[in-house]
Amino acid sequence: MKEEGMSKKILVTYASRLGATAGVAEAIGKTLQDGGAEVEVRRMEDVTDLSPYDAVVAGSAIRGKQWLPEARQFMRTHQTALRQKPFAAFLVCMTLAMKNGEKYRSSVGEWLAPVRARVKPVSEGLFAGALDIGKIPSFGDRLKFRLSVMLGVWKEGDHRDWNAIRAWATELNRLLKA
Ligand SMILES: Cc1cc2nc3c(=O)[nH]c(=O)nc-3n(C[C@H](O)[C@H](O)[C@H](O)COP(=O)(O)O)c2cc1C
Repeated sequence: MKEEGMSKKILVTYASRLGATAGVAEAIGKTLQDGGAEVEVRRMEDVTDLSPYDAVVAGSAIRGKQWLPEARQFMRTHQTALRQKPFAAFLVCMTLAMKNGEKYRSSVGEWLAPVRARVKPVSEGLFAGALDIGKIPSFGDRLKFRLSVMLGVWKEGDHRDWNAIRAWATELNRLLKA
């Protein structure tokens, strides 16, 4: 049993391909730490045991309207453990970085439906990410993204909204203590 007043240990774990989601996870971790928690930020592949943690925050980049494969695997592997503690989920995507991206917020939220079906999050964070086409390994994907930029769907660059990310994490401080 943890003693009253002892700081909570929180895991912030993430799946990222090109680094944008890793940065979001670090920012969430920093805010939680500033709020007095003991925080570890880890890649999902590096997490095997959730028993040391009082609460878990898990997030992934979106590809093809879903979390990355290792993030979906994380939910399958740890479903039972995650149901025993406060859990929050987030995603990072480009749809929310579109000019009128906010109008897609509720459909973007549905990309977390498979996560929600396994473990009910106390909160869901939906964040705009980054697009650096030169870093995308697949030629076909680069072509698709170059076309989408030409067509004005979205702009290249870092669209992460650090204020929105910190605001969400600040709210988490309270929710994860419950
Ligand atoms: C191959 C590929 C597929 C993607 N599919 C989607 C998508 O379906 N919806 C979306 O909003 N963003 C999509 N994105 C944008 C990424 O979610 C966004 O660039 C994110 O910031 C990447 O995070 P990462 O740097 O942590 O990998 C896609 C990006 C790539 C490279």
